[in-house]
Amino acid sequence: MAQPVIIDCDPGIDDAIAILLALASPELDVLALTTVAGNVPLASTTANGLRVLDLVGRADLPLAAGAGRPLIHVPQDDSSTTHGETGLDGAGLPAASRGPAAEHAVDLIARLALARPGEVTLVAVGPLTNVALLAAVRPEAFAALRSVLVMGGAANGGNMSPYAEFNVWFDPEAAERVLQTGQDVTLVGLDVTRQAILTAADIDALALLPVIGPPVAGMLRHYMRKHVDWYGEEIVYQHDSLAVAQLIDPTLLTLRHCHVLVDTGLGPARGATLVDRLGVYGGTPNARWAEAVDVERFRALLLQRLAALAASL
Ligand code: RIB
Ligand code: CA
Repeated sequence: MAQPVIIDCDPGIDDAIAILLALASPELDVLALTTVAGNVPLASTTANGLRVLDLVGRADLPLAAGAGRPLIHVPQDDSSTTHGETGLDGAGLPAASRGPAAEHAVDLIARLALARPGEVTLVAVGPLTNVALLAAVRPEAFAALRSVLVMGGAANGGNMSPYAEFNVWFDPEAAERVLQTGQDVTLVGLDVTRQAILTAADIDALALLPVIGPPVAGMLRHYMRKHVDWYGEEIVYQHDSLAVAQLIDPTLLTLRHCHVLVDTGLGPARGATLVDRLGVYGGTPNARWAEAVDVERFRALLLQRLAALAASL
């Protein structure tokens, strides 16, 4: 029985690959996409989500837009350079064939969660603003979710500061509120996603796939140029795809149930995730923290599923 999922995202190049992976995988039944401001403004993340769905003939899937800004503080950030001005630079995708659903992302998630209590997993691969709003405004629907799977956090080095990972850093108050809900939350952070890489050779192979090859290779090559600038390596981190892959194959990651706090202060450590693996704080475990990943099985799964998706189009 395919697992029903909703993907809340901020496409974003790695979000786009994660969406394709989810749509390519029979283990998952993607019910809807919802979008949030993050990598690029909400209008762009929304248009990009719709464009990715058009690419693979899934304009039937509902997509609703959510929060256009974080809960409290708007960060000074220009991460659009990471994903380009469009948020999917290099993809060369045409304009979306439609607009988003009339309802807000929170209402769409709530409606779908309440229709299938205890069954739907919310996969959040952007800032957690929509997820926190759902918990606050529609708590009965939030509680009806099976679980929340998040790409977010860092225990050994951030990407927006020495301590903060982008999704948490963009809206730390939202992340902290989600972690305080008592819901079953899994955090797939940079400690494992920085091992989940694609290489230039992988991208060259992906480029040959029908239909999705050119846009996928184009945006990954854009993303890789950024990785070369930052790290001097011809690799591309697959942050969001790894979170989706964990749903497809729950043996990919090694998880530790522990207490995780978020620094919501306005100081230099804002957005840091304090992963209390040794229970020093004595707090009740509130998240499953991803500590290790089987990199080669992840890579094989991602490449195989993208090829299968292309062949099905
Ligand atoms: O830190 C990585 C995360 O931030 C990914 O979800 C990427 O898409 C950006 O949103
Ligand atoms: Ca993302």
